[in-house]
Amino acid sequence: MAKVIVVTSGKGGVGKTTTTAAIGAALAQRGERTVVIDFDVGLRNLDLVMGAERRVVYDFINVIQGDAKLPQALIRDKRLDNLFLLAASQTRDKDALTTEGVDDVMEQLKRYFDWIVCDSPAGIERGATLAMRHADAAVVVTNPEVSSVRDSDRIIGLLDAKTQKAERGERMEKHLLLTRYDVNRAERGDMLKVDDVLEILSIPLLGVIPESTDVLRASNLGTPVTLADPRSAPAMAYSEAVRRLAGEDVPVTMPGDKRGIFDKLFGRRAA
Ligand SMILES: Nc1ncnc2c1ncn2[C@@H]1O[C@H](COP(=O)(O)OP(=O)(O)OP(=O)(O)O)[C@@H](O)[C@H]1O
Ligand SMILES: [Mg+2]
Repeated sequence: MAKVIVVTSGKGGVGKTTTTAAIGAALAQRGERTVVIDFDVGLRNLDLVMGAERRVVYDFINVIQGDAKLPQALIRDKRLDNLFLLAASQTRDKDALTTEGVDDVMEQLKRYFDWIVCDSPAGIERGATLAMRHADAAVVVTNPEVSSVRDSDRIIGLLDAKTQKAERGERMEKHLLLTRYDVNRAERGDMLKVDDVLEILSIPLLGVIPESTDVLRASNLGTPVTLADPRSAPAMAYSEAVRRLAGEDVPVTMPGDKRGIFDKLFGRRAA
């Protein structure tokens, strides 16, 4: 049975699309049949991060409007055989994404895939609620700053109210993914610390992704960061988060821990 994940945040630009591509690729690397879906109508971006923008012929809206069958719109990843993308449309008409249309596409996808990863648009409007509607679990992407944490709190409220799970009286599984985390800035007090965010949101921690230029480099190559440079700090943090998402019991590595090991190995250099 397919597991549906929504990658959501409330606030824009916190790393949802980066995360969708990274965890989609990491799941596929584990041998799972995975599809990533872009719900950001008008602002499609996931195809770029996946390096598939030139291969989009039909998109999500074409399928909903009956212009294409679902298999025609599923783009197979060129690196991983069991990873697929359903791209968003560039139409300005956000109402083209209908509840019935989304329900129908999700039902079809659930028959073929192990994991369905939905990239939510920013905000708390229709697009975001449609992206979370079918989810079994939510990855709440949050940056360590007050406005992002506040918007994540609003999204958590929606996850408990506006989803099919909520309608059935079931509990939505929620995971906090702290992204763009900079240990030095957190230590200086310029950013919230992990514990501060956990205290405010009180949902379990899935992982902490460090701020890193490797993410931008991967995005410019059109390659999910977990594939572009698997040994990079953000790729390792994403892979670890995916192991946890898949139910493995692994402790969360904090970005600061690694620096600690590095310091211990090489000691402090004399000035
Ligand atoms: N860990 C990271 N380190 C450095 N840069 C990052 C990191 N994660 C994301 N970014 C950068 O932040 C920007 C926004 O990321 P992304 O597009 O994934 O966010 P989003 O939440 O999907 O945005 P939107 O709300 O507009 O859809 C991008 O330029 C991306 O490369
Ligand atoms: Mg996005």
